[in-house]
Amino acid sequence: MSKLRLNLGLVALSAIWLMAAVANAAGEEGKVAGEGGYGGPYGIGRTAAPADIAAWDIDVRPDGAGLPSGQGTAARGEGVYQTHCVACHGSNLQGVRGARGGPLVGGRGSLASKWPLKTVESFWPYATTLYDFVNRAMPFDKPGSLSPGEVYAVVAYILHRAKIIDAEEEMNAHTLPRVRMPNRDGFFPDDRPDVFDYN
Ligand code: HEC
Repeated sequence: MSKLRLNLGLVALSAIWLMAAVANAAGEEGKVAGEGGYGGPYGIGRTAAPADIAAWDIDVRPDGAGLPSGQGTAARGEGVYQTHCVACHGSNLQGVRGARGGPLVGGRGSLASKWPLKTVESFWPYATTLYDFVNRAMPFDKPGSLSPGEVYAVVAYILHRAKIIDAEEEMNAHTLPRVRMPNRDGFFPDDRPDVFDYN
């Protein structure tokens, strides 16, 4: 039985290969990306349009490049947090064990101690990463569902609860990159080579 299945698979593979060879012979492989698709023997796919790419191009870099327009303050962020985050990260932002949401604040100065507590407050070197991460990955059960204004607001709320910014400070594409995180100098570039040449 299993031998029969294997042979059928081989027949199918050969058929696909033959079809591809025939299409190639017909000159179909001449189509390239940018000319209406990837073409080739299968003729599938189309070139991604700028709007397709924009929908995936959400990364925010440490210097703030990629931050969208919009703004928010801790006052508005408190509401966003209570609605979308509190179930897993807790009302005091110390995490909820059963929900697997870790602590977001606290632990400042603990990294070199016997019991380091890594949080946004104690560990993260750039505030802009908070925007990037919340925007792409939170709420854990509904990532990508918050508007830029909601993300800025909840970011402001977390930074305020971490005693990094004042309650009324507005976070936007201009101000967020200028927030200095407590552990900003705790990282250094590792210039060791990826591969060591033992010869
Ligand atoms: C359903 C539970 C859940 C909800 C709701 C949720 N989170 Fe999370 N959160 C998690 C889990 C689980 C992780 C760990 C994810 C991982 O490591 O990949 C996490 C990680 C994080 C981290 C990274 C913490 C660190 O130091 O690594 C941040 C920041 C964060 N969440 C913010 C938020 C914000 C803001 C909201 C609301 C908009 C939110 N979360 C809603 C479960 C949740």
